Amino acid sequence: MKNERQIIEVSDATALAHTAAERLVSRLEDNNERAAICLTGGSSPERLYRLLASEPYRDRIPWRRVHWFMGDERFVAPEDLRNNMAMARRLFLDICAPPENIHPIPVQAGTTHDAARRYEIALQTFYGSGRLDPARPLFDLVLMGLGPDGHTASLFPGDAALDERTRWVVGVSRANVEPLVPRVTLTLPTLASCREMLFVVSGPDKRGVLAQVLDGDDLPAARAHSLGDTVWLVDSAALPGSIA
Ligand code: 6PG
Repeated sequence: MKNERQIIEVSDATALAHTAAERLVSRLEDNNERAAICLTGGSSPERLYRLLASEPYRDRIPWRRVHWFMGDERFVAPEDLRNNMAMARRLFLDICAPPENIHPIPVQAGTTHDAARRYEIALQTFYGSGRLDPARPLFDLVLMGLGPDGHTASLFPGDAALDERTRWVVGVSRANVEPLVPRVTLTLPTLASCREMLFVVSGPDKRGVLAQVLDGDDLPAARAHSLGDTVWLVDSAALPGSIA
């Protein structure tokens, strides 16, 4: 695991969405075969998702060969507005992606643990193995957000999910922040299996917690790294020390 991270500062949320879209397209251009993107929930990626459904990005994405997964999910009905995949579907997937290329976490399962098990099997089937090979990353790109308590995906400070090394996906019974519903999350080794992990962090509310991450505090988001490149895309309002 490479522990360094690259920080890219952009002027504002609009520039952040454009830069993220360019990076996503560029990762797809690097791979001429079937590609996999792991999405994130929260509000930070909303502009990016809208952008992907509009030109020029819509035309630059080879939709037929790109598969879309979700890094974590709130355990609410698929059509619930708080459901992460519902948000991604509404903003771009249902507009552009073939339905068979959209891989939601199965929130209809009886428990978060059942949903986690089923998603793990879906990921392993897609990957073609139950063992992650560092030479063959699962994802081309993994998008990540930064929560106010330093969580990322649904990996909350102090939760056992953070230390999981074997399971690819786990259920989380208690969320630390709103919405206070159970969650399902990919674990750190699964998220690490990517060519690029791209954090998108925007706005002044993120400045304090981002300072903690950059100072080396042991927060979930600080533990998250890619086996390939780990990039933090941050707008000036969120970046500690920036004069925004
Ligand atoms: C979720 C997320 C979560 C999110 C952060 C940042 O389901 O809530 O996947 O990890 O990325 O909480 O959220 P914002 O972008 O809304 O600040």
